[in-house]
Amino acid sequence: MARVSNAAIAVQDVSFQWAADAPVLQRCSLAVQPGEFCMLLGNNGSGKSTLLKLLGGLLTPQDGVIHIEKPIGYVFQNPDHQLVMPTVGADVAFGLVSENLTLPQVRSRVLEALDAVSLVHLARRPIYALSGGQKQRVAIAGAIARNCRVLLLDEPTALLDPDSQLELTAQVRSLVKQRNLTALWVTHRLVELEYCDRAFLLRNGTVVAQGNPDSVRRQLEHGE
Ligand SMILES: Nc1ncnc2c1ncn2[C@@H]1O[C@H](COP(=O)(O)OP(=O)(O)OP(=O)(O)O)[C@@H](O)[C@H]1O
Ligand SMILES: [Mg+2]
Repeated sequence: MARVSNAAIAVQDVSFQWAADAPVLQRCSLAVQPGEFCMLLGNNGSGKSTLLKLLGGLLTPQDGVIHIEKPIGYVFQNPDHQLVMPTVGADVAFGLVSENLTLPQVRSRVLEALDAVSLVHLARRPIYALSGGQKQRVAIAGAIARNCRVLLLDEPTALLDPDSQLELTAQVRSLVKQRNLTALWVTHRLVELEYCDRAFLLRNGTVVAQGNPDSVRRQLEHGE
């Protein structure tokens, strides 16, 4: 596989199964270069979330090797599973607890991260009073505040309306490009594909197609 050694995310021949007779990933390989915004597509149950959990270190491969640049920021489909503090600012600050920063340092990291997702004006807003798209941006601000190099996003737009869906997609793309981050974004929604540099199609436990958005869309349309 090309350019694995410098990749921000490299998955080499990874296999994983939850149950003995039901392999989910079978010698799956992919590589995402630093600064790339890539998407991961595949049918329900094809193993996209399992692969993201392996990348996030929540699971361990039964075979194969994973290399990923750290720190990693993980964004879930449902932000209510991720945001734990009562207000926007407190939630972003919560991710910094282990770094032993001074209060002014925490404040400046939180404000800078909220600025990156255009939410500074909502720093004191209770989480329950946010829209779905705003909640996802708080989760992303949490990753930015922790200086994450890689973002793993598992269907972050699944619960959003079409306008906020594309707004979030465009905002993450520009964050990745401005800050030279790397992102792997799981989606079912083909309208989002336009925003990525490259996409991977997962089927039968492995990557069966990869390339620019147009080529992957063509392979999706003709590959079933
Ligand atoms: N915690 C678990 N315990 C047992 N089996 C699981 C678990 N999580 C997922 N699986 C199984 O692993 C397979 C892959 O699931 P996964 O959630 O990775 O798919 P997915 O591509 O993310 O699907 P979706 O598009 O519906 O989110 C499925 O057959 C699923 O039932
Ligand atoms: Mg999933």
